[in-house]
Amino acid sequence: MKALGFTTYGAPEVFEELELPKPTLGEKDVLIKAQAVGINPYDALLRAGTMQKIRPLEFPIVPGSDVVGEIVEVGSKVKHYAIGDIVIAHPSIGGYGEYVAISSAKIVKKPEEMSLEEAAGLASVGTTAYFAIKLAKLKKNETLIIQGASGAVGSIAVQIAKEAGIHVIGIAHSRNRDYVSALGADEVVAYDEGNLANRLADKADVVLDASFGGKGAAEGLQFVKKGGRYISLTSFPDNAEEKKVKAMRMMRTKDMKDKEALGYLADLYRSHKLRLKTAETLTFDLRGVIGAHQLIDKKKVAGKLVLK
Ligand SMILES: NC(=O)c1ccc[n+]([C@@H]2O[C@H](COP(=O)([O-])OP(=O)(O)OC[C@H]3O[C@@H](n4cnc5c(N)ncnc54)[C@H](OP(=O)(O)O)[C@@H]3O)[C@@H](O)[C@H]2O)c1
Repeated sequence: MKALGFTTYGAPEVFEELELPKPTLGEKDVLIKAQAVGINPYDALLRAGTMQKIRPLEFPIVPGSDVVGEIVEVGSKVKHYAIGDIVIAHPSIGGYGEYVAISSAKIVKKPEEMSLEEAAGLASVGTTAYFAIKLAKLKKNETLIIQGASGAVGSIAVQIAKEAGIHVIGIAHSRNRDYVSALGADEVVAYDEGNLANRLADKADVVLDASFGGKGAAEGLQFVKKGGRYISLTSFPDNAEEKKVKAMRMMRTKDMKDKEALGYLADLYRSHKLRLKTAETLTFDLRGVIGAHQLIDKKKVAGKLVLK
């Protein structure tokens, strides 16, 4: 099969079109023929070699954790899925390949009305947002401040929290104020319009830092009430104890099942309560993958990048 990967670390141009063996199936796996794939900042870290020590992998490396495609083969113990189903899949790697073999516990049927582009951008950011909100253990009417509310993870977290009856304050750039409001945030505060600490000090039961690279982390702790929680997708505040705030880093654990999160997100979409934003769709080929990684390296992408 064809796959887009690399045999050396470096700039987006290290990608090449590889010819690799078609993956083999385990008895609980399905084989998916990919129709579209989402690109994540993490894929760019893999390509640049930044993850070498944390996650040593052998070349050739084929990134990709967000796939949508058609089931073309099912393992003998797979229930509830059949050949021909179009599914959203969350593999740990290998999504930029023509075929992906994956456990049926890491897929969900694509809602019919969901576009391939939306579906390709959902799994990684959606499951992250879902489990971050779950970790927050918020009660109805409590206040959640989301830093990076306009981002890929943050925008989904806003919608999940609103569905749970939480009061949401989104922090984003002023150019994204209307977008975050339309997602359902009760208030939107622009990080580029004056001092945030003055306006938001001690307002939140929980702060979720989903800002790019933890840019919001320096001030985020100030927004949490005494006894509140601070959840970070990136950097960790070192003075949380002093402020009597419980700080947690969002790490995926074994009890955080993809099936649960993807099922919830698909249902939320079916009930018209989940809006997903695609930034740009490029072709699912060498030119497309290099172009997408060039865009992601510039860090100026609002919404998901997809290859189709
Ligand atoms: N993608 C995943 O599945 C995943 C999983 C685990 C962890 N993470 C981490 O989580 C973070 C968010 O990921 P993402 O994919 O959602 O990124 P993203 O789409 O680039 O969103 C990042 C957001 O950060 C906001 N931001 C930038 N500077 C800010 C500041 N000073 N204060 C508050 N917000 C600020 C941006 O807001 P504006 O656009 O309005 O400027 C943007 O909406 C990243 O650090 C990522 O590494 C992501």
